[in-house]
Amino acid sequence: ADALKIGIAGLGTVGASLARILVERREMLTTTCGRPIEIVAVSARDRNRDRGVDLSHVAWFDDPVALADNPQIDVFVELMGGAGDPAYSAVKTALARGVHVVTANKALLAAHGVELATIAEERGCLLNYEAAVAGGIPVIKALRESLTGNTVSRVYGIMNGTCNYILTKMEREGLSFAECLKEAQRLGYAEADPAFDIEGNDTAHKLSILTTLAFGNRIAADDIYLEGISNISIEDIRAAADLGYRIKLLGVAQKTETGIEQRVHPTMVPIESEIAQVDGVTNAVAIESDILGELLMVGPGAGGNATASAVLGDIADIAKSRPGAQRVPAFGRPAASLEPYKRAQ
Ligand code: HSE
Repeated sequence: ADALKIGIAGLGTVGASLARILVERREMLTTTCGRPIEIVAVSARDRNRDRGVDLSHVAWFDDPVALADNPQIDVFVELMGGAGDPAYSAVKTALARGVHVVTANKALLAAHGVELATIAEERGCLLNYEAAVAGGIPVIKALRESLTGNTVSRVYGIMNGTCNYILTKMEREGLSFAECLKEAQRLGYAEADPAFDIEGNDTAHKLSILTTLAFGNRIAADDIYLEGISNISIEDIRAAADLGYRIKLLGVAQKTETGIEQRVHPTMVPIESEIAQVDGVTNAVAIESDILGELLMVGPGAGGNATASAVLGDIADIAKSRPGAQRVPAFGRPAASLEPYKRAQ
């Protein structure tokens, strides 16, 4: 069968991991997907960096929007990040041409997700973004597909690996906040601007996406009570432990009688609870729904390979899908059916 030709915009931690995996596992992926997956074009700021993979035979673009517009590609993989341009224009360009998009960009989806989902639907292509929330945990697939027919009442969890890593390391090793953050950056967990991690914005972006998938409302990333972990000290962590609690940065979205409540803040969780046991860069997402009951998913939430694994799954879904097939809507239902957001009183 014909190869699935992909263009990757952004070869940072995640993009480089993805490129390595696609090259190293080419045969295995060809067998699983029934066709080869081929990187035909990339764009990245630095051409010369050693990424541990030979990309000398692929086309290099300086402009990600030009890459998205390249007629060679079947799938545009956006791994640049950032809510605005160039990511926004590039994704929009690809979708408008009917080219499938795979992205890990939660900030982009929080800001423009409904618009992008609408274009994808009009053009009959897929907008896949498993890696955008909770890294390698298949939470998008769970909410978008597996839980179809359930009424979800609550979604909550630990959705930022950097923060959970910092809180865990402060508690275990008694290191300062600043030292732990530096280590999280070194390991490739943190955002380009780590303020997004520690001030809770990244968790808020992810939560707003889960809220939409869970409750069928239009995305409302600005209507989230937001408090990060930058003011948490070792003394706070010790005081919580003395009372039998651990401090976790949680994102919580629930449906009440008056509307939807969304919040992100440091939370004291009982030390014996499952969520308190979630250590380091690990994330956890709990989904409460009426048919299934309570689902708790725990797994790697950030880092090159964990995130690339989710991106790869999204690409593989496209490789296996038939041309002209009915597409899964980005938010699990037609974009036009998303209801206006109503904040709980
Ligand atoms: N900076 C993010 C985190 C990356 O630490 O969770 C994964 O989205």
